[in-house]
Amino acid sequence: MKLLEDRIHTDGQVLGQDILKVDRFLTHQVDYQLMKKIGKRFAQVYANAGVTKVVTIEASGIAPALYAAESLNVPMVFAKKAKNVTMNDDLLITEVYSFTKKLTSTVQISSKLIEEGDKVLIIDDFLANGQAALGLVHLMEQAKAEVVGLGMVIEKSFQDGRQKLLDQGMKLTSLARIEKFEDGKVIFAPADDKDFD
Ligand code: G4P
Repeated sequence: MKLLEDRIHTDGQVLGQDILKVDRFLTHQVDYQLMKKIGKRFAQVYANAGVTKVVTIEASGIAPALYAAESLNVPMVFAKKAKNVTMNDDLLITEVYSFTKKLTSTVQISSKLIEEGDKVLIIDDFLANGQAALGLVHLMEQAKAEVVGLGMVIEKSFQDGRQKLLDQGMKLTSLARIEKFEDGKVIFAPADDKDFD
């Protein structure tokens, strides 16, 4: 998505070897106008997939997922990283290891919110090692829901998340694909939605 790539060039900041800071529009401050366009793009790509729910994981996946859900006119459900007192239903549960944070967290969704036969579009802000995405796929398997695809706002293509998802036979749509960082600049690979620009 050209608009997103341009925004990454303008407002993204490369930190060290492998981290992109995008806290001006995605991971801390959120540009709702950009998020709305991102949500619409995911909805365009998956318009004919029969999506019944959009699923993401808190926190930064929520904004793009919500606008995708609005465009597809379906509910958005986000996996929680902490169980709270009102979560007294049966739960879909899995463990997600974060290579960035070097810790494992338990993520959960109330099992009543995803039904057998649901056609789910998974959305997240970053695809790096794919642990969060695979965790969500695992939760959908527990619910006997079908994952019709995954939409990632930013993919770091030099990490192995993409390959892991493709190996599982998943359809993947990343709107910005980072091939590498060079002298503090972002070099993009062709995005999966380039035909929609
Ligand atoms: P993975 O989910 O693909 O396996 O990636 P990893 O374990 O490396 O990432 C863990 C967290 O760090 C995720 O957020 C992910 O979105 C984020 N992350 C990974 N690479 C980058 C990056 O280059 N820049 C930024 N800004 N974030 C990155 P999270 O823990 O789920 O946090 P949040 O959504 O609650 O903020």
